[in-house]
Amino acid sequence: MTTRRLVLTRSAAVIGAASTGLLLPQIARAQSDKVRVGFMLPYTGTFAQLGVAIENGFMMALNEQGGKLGGREVEFFKVDDESNPAKGIENANRLVQRDKVDVLVGTVHSGVQMGIHKVARDSGVLSLIPNAGVHVATRAQCAPNVYRTSFSNSQPTLALGKAMMDRGHKKAVWITWNYAAGEEAFEGFEKGYTEAGGTIIKKLGVPFPNVEFQALLTEIASLNPDAVACFFAGGGAAKFLKDFAAAGLNKNIQLYGSGFLTEGVLEAAGPAADGVLTTMHYSDSLDTPRNKQFRLSYAKTFKAQPDVYAVQGYDTGLLLVKGANAVKGDLSNKQALYAAMDGAVIDSPRGKWTMSKAHNPIQDMYLRKVVNGENKVIGIAGKAVADSAAGCRMG
Ligand code: PHB
Repeated sequence: MTTRRLVLTRSAAVIGAASTGLLLPQIARAQSDKVRVGFMLPYTGTFAQLGVAIENGFMMALNEQGGKLGGREVEFFKVDDESNPAKGIENANRLVQRDKVDVLVGTVHSGVQMGIHKVARDSGVLSLIPNAGVHVATRAQCAPNVYRTSFSNSQPTLALGKAMMDRGHKKAVWITWNYAAGEEAFEGFEKGYTEAGGTIIKKLGVPFPNVEFQALLTEIASLNPDAVACFFAGGGAAKFLKDFAAAGLNKNIQLYGSGFLTEGVLEAAGPAADGVLTTMHYSDSLDTPRNKQFRLSYAKTFKAQPDVYAVQGYDTGLLLVKGANAVKGDLSNKQALYAAMDGAVIDSPRGKWTMSKAHNPIQDMYLRKVVNGENKVIGIAGKAVADSAAGCRMG
């Protein structure tokens, strides 16, 4: 695998200006006049489409500001992190040391996030996490310059257990990728499910990003649980849904997951996803003017349907806009910048959420069911769900 650095040729200013017909002002500005934003996201591999959706969402929030941050134009730098943890530190340093970004937006994979997190803590650069749920980033290693706009890995699965027990599914098998996100998603699932009275009869895993599920599906069939619960995402999630159905398991065993299982993959999975139940902080079908307006505008701009990753990217942009506007674009005024972001209430397509003292969203969790290729909300699985923030001494 090769590391690829992609310098973005367009800018939010251009996109914003193009829509208003004003293309002149951004020409020949001194570089230092511009806010330097670095995207460190997966643009290849099983999480590639997640990276694109996050970037699109982020750009949308900036475009709503005419492409500016606190009145300043924006210059973008991009690194494809390939969801490869081994290159996490090196890739983050490219953006921070070489490109001298003011803000680092990234990433999807929890292992790669640990590389970004080290660089962010060492350098003090503003780090906005648009997906990766790795616990420690907003627990024991929480930091004033690190904000997460997505979830902690155990947040979505914490709400799953009760929904399963409500449906009489008392014996479950858990399956995931063996890395931080899977392990921590299990932590939430185990707590919620066992507290509700459920029994986990087996915990299964494959290495990330392996998608050879056959042997484990055979094992699940022989274990004959009431339900299977899982964490998978992106290309791997589509493959798991299809393999689970192709093995005939969906006939007798109810499949559950954190909502990533059915995000951005419903077209690829087709009927294999029908009836799958998930918990998540967003749903396409949220019947609010805010969500409808977001979905319409996103579809118009990017010719694609938004998913939870697009929403998280958008909210990352909204948070940064709030901070940048409060300091009129002077991101070096960290005290005022952080104060504005700490107190932020984000008016998100997912519903309004607030930033916890440890810098992780406090948000509602929805219970969703896949019906006719859509994630339909069928209930609220948790109100104002917060991460434990264990070990974080901020605030
Ligand atoms: C993670 O690695 O933290 C991760 C990746 C993909 C998801 C959710 C979490 O959809």
